Amino acid sequence: MSVNGGSGIGRRQALGAAGMAACGVAALAACGGGESTDRQAPGIKGKVIAKTADVPVGGGTVVKQYRIVVTQPSEGVFKAFGAACPHRGCAVSTPKDNVMTCPCHGSEFDAETGAAVKGPATGKLVAYQVKVEGDGIVVV
Ligand code: FES
Repeated sequence: MSVNGGSGIGRRQALGAAGMAACGVAALAACGGGESTDRQAPGIKGKVIAKTADVPVGGGTVVKQYRIVVTQPSEGVFKAFGAACPHRGCAVSTPKDNVMTCPCHGSEFDAETGAAVKGPATGKLVAYQVKVEGDGIVVV
């Protein structure tokens, strides 16, 4: 009546991939572009960059072709800015309630002045002088 435990001596130390999950999280959020703060895009002077009908009061439109955002902060007043955020260069979004927001880190910009009203960005978007000709908005 002996209980034989049948002890298996051969211990196996199966160290299955112990410290494997040390993936360094690349905290640098993919921000899309470089830090291009393109000033005046060459050859843009005199070009119709948007139609007034596409730019609502308090809102605006992003003209991807030129990387410009056109706003109408108040009735009949049109402004244009380079869409590149001064923080890391992401393109700001279409303005809402006279505020343009950068999707990368949440900076916000005044649609009349282009100035950062919320960080992390500081400074302003590059401003373009525009005028209305007929139903078009033209860079001067
Ligand atoms: Fe960082 Fe715009 S790129 S807030």
